[in-house]
Amino acid sequence: TWTSHSVIAAAVGAVREQVGDAQVVCGLSGGVDSAVAAALVHEAVGSQLTCLFVDHGLLRQDEAEQVEQAFGAHSDTRLVSIKAADRFLRQLEGVSEPEEKRRRIGEEFIRTFEEAALEHASGAAFLVQGTLYPDVVESGHGSSATIKTHHNVGGLPERMNFDLVEPLRWLFKDEVRRVGAELGLPEEIVERQPFPGPGLAVRIIGEVTREKLEVLRAADAIFRHELARAGLEGEIWQAFVVLPDVRTVGVQGDERTYGYPVILRAVTSEDAMTADFARIDYDVLERVTGRIVNEVPSVGRVAYDVTSKPPGTIEWE
Ligand code: XMP
Repeated sequence: TWTSHSVIAAAVGAVREQVGDAQVVCGLSGGVDSAVAAALVHEAVGSQLTCLFVDHGLLRQDEAEQVEQAFGAHSDTRLVSIKAADRFLRQLEGVSEPEEKRRRIGEEFIRTFEEAALEHASGAAFLVQGTLYPDVVESGHGSSATIKTHHNVGGLPERMNFDLVEPLRWLFKDEVRRVGAELGLPEEIVERQPFPGPGLAVRIIGEVTREKLEVLRAADAIFRHELARAGLEGEIWQAFVVLPDVRTVGVQGDERTYGYPVILRAVTSEDAMTADFARIDYDVLERVTGRIVNEVPSVGRVAYDVTSKPPGTIEWE
């Protein structure tokens, strides 16, 4: 029978066997998977592990500070933060095809990790990824079709200087949370909503620009803030805002506006393999909409996505 205790014991043993006394790096994404993977590997090989937190410019509002704080306060694992927005955004210039975005982000992550491993972890040859079983399935490994290239980082390049360590590869998200709790991670990390490695890039349809990132960040912060205020965070698997690549006509005062629409997405789920749209109270949606159109100047319309998975995926790309 499944117990987090036995899963941890087995994973710790496997990690020790795989890496021996080599140095290991782990990319933290701000989500729960990479945090739990890091905690497991730390349990296994202690100070051989260096965690890397890459700010790729595709994070949510205040996310870098939150991750650094939450992680720093509860772990004695070494954490190196890397500011890399310029190089990621340069890679994304002019790119609008979803899988190409993922590929470029994945590649840039690996190059950033390789450089950081040389600089901060004596050339570590192992990279920890918080890949879960559903990621493996939906990325088309084994016999199933590729839905999208899931990896903590987005998509992995063919050539890289790392062997992967994936201690969560056979687990579902609820199991990962139990493992995290058993390893002593605080609730603020264990209960954190999932956040995809490619970050806001998969929530901006079409080309990613700094301007669109600012719009999305502002709207997304309002949505999540209002959900928290309404006490709805606990029952929602993930809630976020999507910025499509279109404009919409509206009116404010007696002026015509021609701004972005944004789409609110909130789902309930057990394991992200399937999901249902969250039945959010209209009053909450109204409050969120009022704040977004008032506080985010270039947004003139707000829509709520009522598609379940399947046929929709949770993210829009
Ligand atoms: P979809 O959109 O496929 O997403 O229904 C299922 C879950 O996976 C997350 N997701 C990712 N997580 N790297 C990640 O670490 C990725 O490339 C990635 N793509 C999607 C998504 O947020 C949801 O929780």
